[in-house]
Parts: sequence; C-alpha cells; structure tokens
Amino acid sequence: AAGAMEEPERPETLEAVAKAIETCARCLIAELHTNAVMGEGPQDAPLMIVGEQPGDNEDMQRRAFVGPAGQLLNVHLEKAGIDRGAAYLTNAVKHFKYVQRGKRRLHQNPSAKEIDTCRWWVESERAIVKPKLVLAMGASAARAMLGKTVSITKARGAPIPLEDGSELWVTAHPSYLLRLEGMGREEQTRLFDADLAAVAARLR
Ligand code: URA
Repeated sequence: AAGAMEEPERPETLEAVAKAIETCARCLIAELHTNAVMGEGPQDAPLMIVGEQPGDNEDMQRRAFVGPAGQLLNVHLEKAGIDRGAAYLTNAVKHFKYVQRGKRRLHQNPSAKEIDTCRWWVESERAIVKPKLVLAMGASAARAMLGKTVSITKARGAPIPLEDGSELWVTAHPSYLLRLEGMGREEQTRLFDADLAAVAARLR
C-alpha cells in the first residue's frame, strides 16, 4: 500500500547496531560524511544515558561524550556517585549535524524528523541493553525516548514510566549548562545535580 514501508528486523546485538549505523542512509545528516558514533558501555548496564548527537570531538574520535559536554558530564556523574563506566552512553542521533563556518564546524540541532528517524537505532540499543533507568539529557533525547516533544522543565524531577517497565528521567543537556553564565548557570547546575542524585538513588 502507498506509504506503508515495512520496518526491518531490529538488530539483536550492539555489534550489529554499530555495523548497521555505518551505512545508514535513513536521513540526510549522513551525507555530511561524518562518522557514525555508536553508544558505549556494558550491554547489561542498569542505566542508559542519552544525549543529542555527537559533537565535533565525538565525530573525530568516534566516541560519545568525549568533548567539553562529556567532560562536564563526568564531573557531575562523579558528584552524584554514578559510575560512568557502568552506564551505557549513547545519543539520540548518531551523526554530527553541522554547518561549516570557515575552519569551524558549528553544531546544528537535529530536526524532529531526523530525531524520529534515528530513533530506530537508540530504541534498538535500549531493547538490547534493557536498562532499568534511562536518563535523557535535553529535548532531543527526551523526544527520542517518548516520540514526542516534551518540555524539560515540566518533565524533569519525576520518573516517566516506559512501556517495558523501565523508567525515564529527563534532565537538561550539559551543553546547555556550558552556554549559561552567572546565576542562570548556578541554578541550572543545581537542578542538573538534583536530577542526577535522584537517578543515583533509584539505582541503589
Ligand atoms: N553532546 C551530545 O549530546 N552527545 C555527545 O556525544 C557529545 C556532546
């Protein structure tokens, strides 16, 4: 029937996801010829942390959360007593979307459609890892987990049940904290720490 495109079978292992995203052409971001960046962490991680998309550093190193946002995340995970190495870290979108400005590649937000398209992969990862808790950082990650746009302000602070019995926690993206200054930064940092502390308490 017109428009009825059948979804392929979900990959059954993280290795299969990693292989498949290399040649993914579901959206046009891949045409920028950046690297597909796979999630990383234990396959049986109790916590899955979802970001937006790889940045410039992540694209070059082919690893999630290794740039400035990742370093800030490390500081706050440690403060909350969450072991990054025990979590599965991934992104809503697997390729870096950018515009070239001279020598610099400037981050571009993925569109809702691009997030919804790439959702196939992060949902495949979640189906394999089966985390007890998911922490979605930022609006793109929240949309990837829920399939619709939610306000971070409204969604944060309480668990959102997911269909498989796990729970989703929504918080701000560390890159957002990096863009703030002064009191705004302090306030948002406090909220971010509170969200991470709540997640840490649920993991125990
Ligand atoms: N920001 C993200 O959302 N993900 C990364 O991997 C790096 C920065």
